[in-house]
Parts: sequence; C-alpha cells; structure tokens
Amino acid sequence: MATYQEFIQQNEERDGVRFSWNIWPSNKLEATRLVVPIGCLYNPFRERPDLPPLHYDPVVCSRSTCRAILNPFCQVDYRAKSWACNFCFQRNNFPPQYAGMTEQQPPAELIYNYSTIEYILPKVQCHPPVFLFVLDTCMDEEDLQAVKESLQMSLSLLPPNALVGLITFGRMVHVHELYQSEDSTSNISKSYVFKGTKDLSAKQIQEMLGLNRQVPLNKPAHPNQPGQPPQQQQFLPPGYKFLQPVSNCDMVLTDLLNELQRDPWPVPQGKRPLRSTGVALSIAVGLLEALYPNCAARIMTFMGGPCTQGPGMIADDELKFPIRSHHDIDKDNIKYMKKAIKHYESLANRAAVNSHIVDIYSADVNQTGLHEMKYLCNYTGGHMILADSFNTSLFKQSFQRVFLKDSNNDFRMGFGSLIDVKTSRELKVSGAIGTCVSLNNKNQYVSETETGIGGTSSWRISGIYPNTTLAFFFDIVSQQGAPAPQGGRGYIQFTNNYQHANGTRRIRVTTIARNMIDANVNMNQISYSFDQECAAILMARIAIFRAETDNGHDVLRWLDRMLIKLCQKFGIYEKENPNTFVLAENFSLYPQFMFHLRRSQFLQVFNNSPDETAYYRHYLLIEELTQSLIMIQPILYSYSFNGPPEPVLLDSSSILDDRILLMDTFFHILIYRGKSVAEWFQMGYQNLPEHENFRQLLQAPVDDAQEILQSRFPMPRYIDTEHEHSQSRFLLSKVNPSQTHNNLAYGYQQNVASSPILTDDVSLQVFMDHLKKLSVSQSS
Ligand SMILES: *[C@@H]1O[C@H](CO)[C@@H](O)[C@H](O)[C@H]1NC(C)=O
Ligand SMILES: *[C@@H]1O[C@H](CO)[C@@H](O)[C@H](O)[C@H]1NC(C)=O
Ligand SMILES: *[C@@H]1O[C@H](CO)[C@@H](O)[C@H](O)[C@H]1NC(C)=O
Ligand SMILES: *[C@@H]1O[C@H](CO)[C@@H](O)[C@H](O)[C@H]1NC(C)=O
Ligand SMILES: *[C@@H]1O[C@H](CO)[C@@H](O)[C@H](O)[C@H]1NC(C)=O
Ligand SMILES: *[C@@H]1O[C@H](CO)[C@@H](O)[C@H](O)[C@H]1NC(C)=O
Ligand SMILES: *[C@@H]1O[C@H](CO)[C@@H](O)[C@H](O)[C@H]1NC(C)=O
Ligand SMILES: *[C@@H]1O[C@H](CO)[C@@H](O)[C@H](O)[C@H]1NC(C)=O
Ligand SMILES: [Zn+2]
Repeated sequence: MATYQEFIQQNEERDGVRFSWNIWPSNKLEATRLVVPIGCLYNPFRERPDLPPLHYDPVVCSRSTCRAILNPFCQVDYRAKSWACNFCFQRNNFPPQYAGMTEQQPPAELIYNYSTIEYILPKVQCHPPVFLFVLDTCMDEEDLQAVKESLQMSLSLLPPNALVGLITFGRMVHVHELYQSEDSTSNISKSYVFKGTKDLSAKQIQEMLGLNRQVPLNKPAHPNQPGQPPQQQQFLPPGYKFLQPVSNCDMVLTDLLNELQRDPWPVPQGKRPLRSTGVALSIAVGLLEALYPNCAARIMTFMGGPCTQGPGMIADDELKFPIRSHHDIDKDNIKYMKKAIKHYESLANRAAVNSHIVDIYSADVNQTGLHEMKYLCNYTGGHMILADSFNTSLFKQSFQRVFLKDSNNDFRMGFGSLIDVKTSRELKVSGAIGTCVSLNNKNQYVSETETGIGGTSSWRISGIYPNTTLAFFFDIVSQQGAPAPQGGRGYIQFTNNYQHANGTRRIRVTTIARNMIDANVNMNQISYSFDQECAAILMARIAIFRAETDNGHDVLRWLDRMLIKLCQKFGIYEKENPNTFVLAENFSLYPQFMFHLRRSQFLQVFNNSPDETAYYRHYLLIEELTQSLIMIQPILYSYSFNGPPEPVLLDSSSILDDRILLMDTFFHILIYRGKSVAEWFQMGYQNLPEHENFRQLLQAPVDDAQEILQSRFPMPRYIDTEHEHSQSRFLLSKVNPSQTHNNLAYGYQQNVASSPILTDDVSLQVFMDHLKKLSVSQSS
C-alpha cells in the first residue's frame, strides 16, 4: 500500500486536486466534528502535456437532472454495452460509436489513469479573443513611454486574428477609431470623446458610438448587371471602427501609440490630475457587452494614479487629502469608498456575466484604488499588478509573462470558464472561494449551508491560467444510521468548460472518489488521511473571505477557536495537563501554519495600505497550493562557507553573522548579508583574487534569486539588504521572533481560561505553550 504522501501526490498530479481529508466520515455529525471542513483545492487548467485531448463529445448520463459524464468509476457492462451512472445509478446505453470497445480495450475515459480527461468539442465554433486596452494618459513622460513600449510589444505577440481596441483617458475619455478604409485620405486619427464626470448606461454608450447602425461593407461598384446574380449586400461587423483584427490595424495602432500625448489639461500645484478611470472602464465594459457578449475578451487597464472624478472616484483632486488608509476605513472616515466600490463591483458583475476579463496594471508610488477596484479582477480572473512605475521590470516583465506560450505555442490563458460540480448523494457542495462568481445554479448538489460563494453548483471564471486554483467545500448530508454509500465511496465530478487559447471549446472532466467510513469506529483512519498543507490553505482562504466583511479581530478569534478545537479533537493529552500534549505527525505542522498566517500581511493589515492588502489577498485567492504555502510561511535558505546552501527555519535564530539568507515570500525575494558577511563585503573582499570563494558565496543567492524572478507571475520585488539596514525589517517581520526579549514582556498574564485567544506578536514557542494550555483545558 502506497503511503499517504504518495497517494496525495499521485492524486494531485493526475487530477490537480488536494483534499483536506482523504477519507470522509459517513455521517453529517461526525463530519462537523472534524473542525476543518471537507474541502479541496482544485486546479482546473493545470498544464497537462501528458494528456492528449479527445476529439469527440463526452458521453453523458441520460437522466435529465443528472447529466454526469462517463468516468472510470462507472459500472460498465461490456456485453450489453451499457453503463451505470455513479452519481444517480441510472443505466445508460453507450452510443453506437462505442460498439467496438472491449474490456481489454476500453475507451480512454474509462481508464483509471484518466480520471481527469479533456474533450475538444468538435461542433463548437469560438470567436477569436478581443483585447481592449484602457490607458491612462495622466502620467509622467517616462511612465507613458514605458507603457507604450509594452503595449507595442504585446501587439506582436497577439494572434493575428485577435481583435484589439484602444480607449485612453485623462480628464476626458477617448474611444479611438482603428478602422481605415482603403480610400482614406487623411492620417488624422479620430476618436469619440466622452466626459469623465458622467456615468453612461450600456444603451447610451451603444448609441453614442453608433454600435447599432449597420454599415455596408462597400457600395456595389456597379449596379447589378442583367444576367448576373444579384450581389449579396454585406455589412461590416458592428463596432468595426473600434475593434479590429491585429493583422488589419497594427500599423494604425502603432502610429496612434507613437503620437499619443500626455493628458493636455494643466495640473495646478497641490492638485492631483483629473482622471476618469471610472467612466473609461464603464465604456470599455459597455462596449464589449454590446458587441461580444459571452465571447473571449480581456480589458487591460493601465493606470498611473487614482480616479479623481466622476463615478468610481477614489479621492478628490486635492493632494492635501490623502487616500484612505486602513485606519480611516476602521473609523468609517471614508468619503468616496463605498460609492466607488459600488461602481466597480457592478462593472465587475457585468463583465463576469459576459465572460469578460478585466486586468488592472497599477503603477504609482501612492495608492490608486485597487481596494475599491479589486472586484474587477476578483470576479473575472483578471490580473492585478502593483508597481511603483511602468518603467520597472516588475511591470514590464510581469506584463510580458501574460503573453507567455505553452509547448504547443498557445497562450497560457483560457477564457470563459464554467465550472460545474456534481456530487453523489452522501454529500453536497457548500461553496467555492476563488476568482469566480456564482451562476446561481441551485439544484440537488447544493448544500443548505454556505462556505464562501455558495448556493450554487456552477461558477464562472472568465480568465484562467495554469496555476488558477479554486477552493471548494463540501458537506456530508447522510444522517447517522443511513446506509453506507454503494461501494463505500463518495464521488465528486468537476467539469471545466472553457475556450482554449487556440480557439477550441473544451471540457476538462475530473472525477474524484474517496472512501467513506464510520468515524465512530475508524477515527484513526480519518485522522491519518488529513492533508495539513491543504487544510492550512483552505482555512486561509476562508479567513480572507471573512476578513473582507468581518472585523479583522473577529477573524483572528475564529481562526484561534478552530485551531484550539482541532487540537482538542486530535491531540493526545491528559486533561488539564499541558505537558502531556502531543499532536500526531499528520497535524504537527498545522499550528505553525496558523501561527504564520495570523501574523501575515493577509490578516495583520495595519502596516500596509488597503491597496496592498487587496493585492496580496488576490494572489492567495488565485494561486496553487505550493505557492500559497510560500505566501503564508516564507522559505528561508542559508548560504555559508560551512557547506552547500540549505533551507533553514524561518526563525530569528537562523540569522547568523557569517551567513547570507535568501527569503522567498512569493511577493518579495530578499537577500540578507549577516554582520560579518556585510563587513567583508564592505571591505571589498569579493574583488580580491585570493577571496574568489567569497565572491562565489555572494553570487550564489543572487543567481538563485534570479531564477525565481525570471519565472514567477507577478514578478516579485527584489530586496538586497544586510545587517542593520532598514530594509532588513522585511526579514525580521517574517521570522519567528524566538530570540527577542518580548517573549517575557508579553507572557500571558491574563486568566488563560477566560480568554481562549492567542494575542500579540509572540514567538512560536509561546504560541504553542499557550495553545497546549487552552487545548487541554476543559473550559475552553
Ligand atoms: C497509469 O499510471 C501509472 C502511474 O503513472 C502507470 O504506471 C501505468 O502504466 C498507467 N496505466 C495505464 C493503463 O496507462
Ligand atoms: C526607464 O528606466 C531606465 C533605467 O532606470 C532608464 O535608463 C530609462 O531612461 C527610463 N525610460 C524612460 C523613458 O525614461
Ligand atoms: C500619411 O502618412 C504617411 C506616412 O507617415 C505619409 O507618407 C503620407 O503622406 C500621409 N498622408 C497624408 C494624407 O497626410
Ligand atoms: C503621494 O503621497 C504623498 C503623501 O501623501 C504626497 O506627498 C505626494 O504628493 C503624493 N504624490 C502623488 C503623485 O500623488
Ligand atoms: C487546437 O489544439 C488541438 C489539440 O492540440 C489541435 O488538434 C487543433 O488543431 C488546434 N486547433 C487550432 C485551430 O489550432
Ligand atoms: C499520517 O500519519 C500516519 C502515521 O504516521 C502516516 O502513516 C500517514 O501517511 C500520514 N498521513 C498523511 C496524509 O501524511
Ligand atoms: C472576492 O470576491 C468575493 C465575492 O465574490 C468576496 O467575498 C471576496 O471578499 C473578494 N475578495 C477579495 C480579496 O477581493
Ligand atoms: C505555478 O506553480 C508552480 C508550482 O508551484 C510554480 O513552479 C510556478 O512558478 C507557478 N507559475 C507562475 C507563473 O507563477
Ligand atoms: Zn446520472
């Protein structure tokens, strides 16, 4: 029998799925006692070069309320050519094209190794993708130049049949014409101009841009000649002026970008420029909604500062009024925030309903309003980039990575994904947490209780990438004493119906089976099946989901209560005797993950701006498990003369004078030179031939850092620091403070039993001691 580690790894490779519990209790009551919900991280677009797609439609269960897809867990009668659905037990006949199959040569979708399989739907035609650039012009020359170059570069990477469009905004919003008829006599580019202060309905935008007028392709040169068939009158596609295939308009667009100037309106001293981001996005969303509903489309927004007028304004133009901070939000001192959120959230919903993606590339040293605008990315699977300037590698390289291609030379992005979940009778789906929206599909698979975005068994995620990961939560609904499920297993089927970048419509099907057992008898087996890494990320996602609406303190209390309950349930101890407390191996790392999560920037927000918080949380809601673990508990490597580089504890005791440390927090890559190393460095030993090995020691972490910087999306910030430099605070804020004198000062003087809360920034040791006390206590 393979070990659990192997089982988990194989399942992750085959299905892109990790579960918190890999054996499920067979009744509801026992399931709620597990504390950590039954849930999974599902990676619906994981790169699978080893999985050749099938070029036919999937076979579906004939029961109209089921429609589950044939999978390796179905009972097959090869002689009768029929199969029994493992979700509803309906008996189905195979379609005629399966007549030749035998038990020795089953079709791929019945082979256990293909519990995840992908179909290319042969009958579905897809529209080529649309890329609509929405560009702020209120930025300095350097930024504008840099962003223009990046846009130019992206044109050369787009497939020639992709449609592109350009909207620019400052005080006014310009929708640019990209169409040039062959007989055009002037080079003067035309644009439709809108005020940045007035919101427009979809209908008004449609009328003002003339999207509903039919324009003949060309006037027949000669009237119909007698004897010849009458010419069919052809029309230009609606919106042809604004959205054109790249192959037709790249010259026009190149000229346009070259000539594009900064917003001409003067900005008086002490003022912010007037920037109409809210109206520009409203027009972009309205334009695509009218022209290409339910087609692959991506709005790419580039902004160099906050929206300062009209709908969606984040701040007014007086620089003396700073943009809201977490403290302002806490004190409800927020003049524009709620209205702005309402504006962007409603745009986000409209985009999501139409399968459109909205990206935000924000470049400013100050906040630009990601906090209010995050819904655009969060509801649509759009990218969010937070840079100080467009002329930084953080922006330029991250932007370039949006257009990376896979081994088949296709973009690593999928469009208009529709994720469906079906469950066998014993369980129901209670919700999802990720960059998706609900499709309000309420049916027999949907649980009464909600975790995350619930009340549905279908979700839309307009933009997906190989690392996109959704969290799903399930409830066991069988009551105690109910008969065990057939075969002792529960089933879940995920389908991801999406538009592949190469223009085909595909369905990826993943069918999962897990054993269900009576927890009263077999609790050990269930606890052995606990995947603590997956559990930590699922709890982190729930915590973030709650933090968006609940008070931060309440979220910490909730996390603490859950951790204490888990320790009470799965720890081994004598009551009231903390010294006897131990956790089984499967749970041993979990408290540490919680320790780092609760002191991370995801939940301790006051050292960051609301924009930064939105940015960090966005990636924890989108990334896959390994990357998410790095975000919660950064990785630390040590480089020294005492041997090869090695991972070391994320602990202040790892900071030694003769070491260089490399820390990866996902968002930051930091190199830190210990005291002695820093001194040798300042004395320039690396330049002396007799200290060649010192030069190499300095170089090794730099090379390793480069490797990470070159591959990750978004590109991390690079921090080079050393002993007693101000930037070293990034390192000090992440390591466990095992060696500070705070430990004593903070020691828990309160009555432990009265407050089951793990407060303040204490060391892991103090945290664990306190946790043990609370766990063995009868009253907490
Ligand atoms: C299924 O996968 C396993 C492990 O990857 C492999 O050893 C085996 O040959 C595969 N079986 C089939 C039928 O492809
Ligand atoms: C962008 O930054 C680089 C390096 O910092 C600088 O050399 C270049 O001039 C900048 N570009 C513009 C357009 O200012
Ligand atoms: C348009 O631009 C091209 C090249 O930039 C130039 O050769 C041509 O004379 C221009 N035409 C008009 C009508 O200005
Ligand atoms: C950025 O914020 C600081 C502090 O609020 C302010 O002094 C500065 O003028 C702002 N810069 C811009 C470009 O808004
Ligand atoms: C898309 O990819 C599939 C599988 O790799 C291939 O069979 C198909 O021809 C491709 N379609 C296009 C339009 O390139
Ligand atoms: C849990 O621990 C048991 C006993 O040490 C081990 O056999 C099992 O593989 C572990 N399970 C997981 C999911 O790591
Ligand atoms: C993302 O959207 C969901 C609703 O769909 C919301 O509850 C959640 O707080 C949002 N998260 C972030 C980080 O914006
Ligand atoms: C996606 O996840 C993998 C595995 O953790 C990681 O190696 C890779 O860098 C991630 N991709 C991006 C673009 O960040
Ligand atoms: Zn069925």
